[in-house]
Amino acid sequence: MPDPLVGKHVILGVTGSIAAYKAADLASKLTQAGAQVDVLLTESATKFVSPLTFRSLTHRAVVTELFDADSPEAIEHVAIARRADALLIAPATANTMAKLALGLADDVLTTTALAVTAPVIVAPAMDAGMWEHPTVQQNAETLLGRGAHISGPGAGRLASGLMGRGRMLEPAELVEHLRWALAQSGDLEGRHVVVTAGGTQEPIDPVRVVTNRSSGKMGYAVAQAARDRGAHVTLVTATSNLPTPYGVKINRVTTVADMRSAVLDACASADALVMAAAVSDYRPANVASQKIKKVGNEASDGISLAMEKTNDFFLEVPEGVLRIGFAAETEDLIENARYKLASKSMALIVANDVTKEGSGFEVDTNQVTIIGADGVTNELPLLTKYEVGDKILDRVVTLLAKRDD
Ligand SMILES: Cc1cc2nc3c(=O)[nH]c(=O)nc-3n(C[C@H](O)[C@H](O)[C@H](O)COP(=O)(O)O)c2cc1C
Repeated sequence: MPDPLVGKHVILGVTGSIAAYKAADLASKLTQAGAQVDVLLTESATKFVSPLTFRSLTHRAVVTELFDADSPEAIEHVAIARRADALLIAPATANTMAKLALGLADDVLTTTALAVTAPVIVAPAMDAGMWEHPTVQQNAETLLGRGAHISGPGAGRLASGLMGRGRMLEPAELVEHLRWALAQSGDLEGRHVVVTAGGTQEPIDPVRVVTNRSSGKMGYAVAQAARDRGAHVTLVTATSNLPTPYGVKINRVTTVADMRSAVLDACASADALVMAAAVSDYRPANVASQKIKKVGNEASDGISLAMEKTNDFFLEVPEGVLRIGFAAETEDLIENARYKLASKSMALIVANDVTKEGSGFEVDTNQVTIIGADGVTNELPLLTKYEVGDKILDRVVTLLAKRDD
């Protein structure tokens, strides 16, 4: 599936906030992602940023006035509204939010908003005191109640120089929110996909752990790709270093035992489980209750850690859940992967030679072979981890359709 933004008509409404300058970056990011962006500016917004900026970035006409007889777009505002796949108002002032809540239509943005039937995302930006005002809160509630998504505002330093909640979310975050809103009717709509990510950590003592080099990037990419196809996604993650993908339910874990209970819990209602996490095979047999010290152990050259096997919970996952595993190998890749596929009753295994350049840990790319229990094998070129996730999900979609036949 392509990025949900590709070819989509997005209306970007910009209002009179100091954060309007960030809307230019937003328009640029959306255009670069393949969306057709129609920008509507309120009159106040034009005091902060010029229509020319948006026209140059989107290569499309920008509408600022409802009664501009020379602008076909203004007259066509209802047509713009009808063809829209989403309306994103960023930044949204207190004034425009109040107008939207009341259904006022005295400028091109609020008039168009009334005719939009597609998802609406409102990204407030204002002084913290304004945001906390009961009227503004009530207006936000009204919009939420009507099905709009209120994205933010975030906390931080405001234009006034004060700290507080009122900042417009960053353009990159808003792009993610938009992807999520647009993805709702994808080919995984109504499916629940559980994804694991990262390397589990097993304690040695209160300050040390045994872990592995998994960064979690592959699992996060699968979770994002599943979200972008409309799935309800639960991400069970053993890493906390990556930004939380919007619209994905996160469950943070540390040890294999934590991961087992989180996965089994989520799988009670899942259609598929993608185990991209690197789960420890062994853990210290005894966890020291105090930090193991060098002082007092000068006579010995080192210490030995007795390790015991961890529980492999893959086979405890309910039968009806499609199981997809990963085989990160350094030798005999395909042979090892086929053995794992059969021994763990997987539907698919993603074989991954972690010694290859551009593959494996930390990097944003991966080169994998997807092997199915049905005998179908796809040897893929070097792709981004998101693209690899998408290829896995192509197979998942087909297998789920067969399962339900
Ligand atoms: C310098 C400056 C910055 C402003 N920033 C904000 C803001 O961040 N949020 C807000 O709600 N209003 C802000 N305002 C007030 C709005 O511009 C004003 O309420 C205006 O009527 C909004 O019109 P619009 O909603 O049609 O764009 C600001 C005004 C000025 C002069």
